[in-house]
Amino acid sequence: MKRRILLLSLMAVFGAAMLPTAQAADKIIVKIAGMKPDGEPETVGMKLFAKYVMDKTNGKYDVRVFPNSQLGKEDAYIAQTRKGIIQMCATGTQTSSLQPSMAMFETPMLFDSLEHAHKAMNGETFKLITKGFSEKSGMTVMNAFPLGFRHFYTKKPVNSINDLKGLRMRVPNIPLYLEFAKQLGQSGQPMPFAEVPSALDQGTIDGGDSPFSDITALKMYEIAPNITLSGHLLVIHSLYINNDFYNKLPPEDKKVFDEAAKYSAEEVWKMAADVEKKAVEQITKGGGKIVTPNAEFKAALEKAGQGTWKLFYDTVPNAKEILESVKQYK
Ligand code: G3P
Repeated sequence: MKRRILLLSLMAVFGAAMLPTAQAADKIIVKIAGMKPDGEPETVGMKLFAKYVMDKTNGKYDVRVFPNSQLGKEDAYIAQTRKGIIQMCATGTQTSSLQPSMAMFETPMLFDSLEHAHKAMNGETFKLITKGFSEKSGMTVMNAFPLGFRHFYTKKPVNSINDLKGLRMRVPNIPLYLEFAKQLGQSGQPMPFAEVPSALDQGTIDGGDSPFSDITALKMYEIAPNITLSGHLLVIHSLYINNDFYNKLPPEDKKVFDEAAKYSAEEVWKMAADVEKKAVEQITKGGGKIVTPNAEFKAALEKAGQGTWKLFYDTVPNAKEILESVKQYK
């Protein structure tokens, strides 16, 4: 008898708690992986996407966001998305290993401003860069959003192009970035973003380049305090979705996923502009030193940036068309 009462009490206590789990089991789980920490534009965008889909489908989908390389480093979670182990991820020109044109999202010295890039990404340039990618990769590129213009952070002061030469600079393991380091006479040290803080701590690199969103979120200026406002390229990432999953969505749900991608990207464009405005103050308050390159330094950066374009001419069949398309959005 006592055992029966105990059983009934346990059912009364845990029964209610079990109910939501049973309901959760009916939901379709969507996992999205990213590499940036909480609070950064990429992660904010992923979360906005998730909320939009869950709200608009009345909870039919349980969209789970895994930022900060929680599901592995960037190349690992791209592979998981392609295989359908997870459904979505946020990434950038790392996908140029699948199709070289994808590196052109981050063509050095291409965009004059965020506004210029925003128009190009909502227009023909986006379509030309991603042409053929879905068939080749098994993933669809749903949107394009900025993380900010890249600037150099270094342990040593940098006042001219010559000061950048010979430095061991971290670069993403992407041919474009290795080529840019070469053009600048640097020793490019390829490594995933997740390894940058420890490499700076351990002194295996002298610095690197990142958008303000990364420089401020990881407080890079505390270890590499010299921030050179080179703005040499705009980091543009996207939400990618596994084709098998995406193409099997009922049309009304697919529409919601598309709207969510567009909406979240637009929010990130607004947020990126805000980050650009506030970053210099945060860096200087945190002990960082800002160097604004003079005209000669800028011209040398421009030359090095455009020096990388040869890579595109050699590997991307529609490179000229892509570069040309950008001009109409100035
Ligand atoms: O889009 C790829 C590139 O922007 C990655 O840069 O520094 O986040 O690894 P990072």
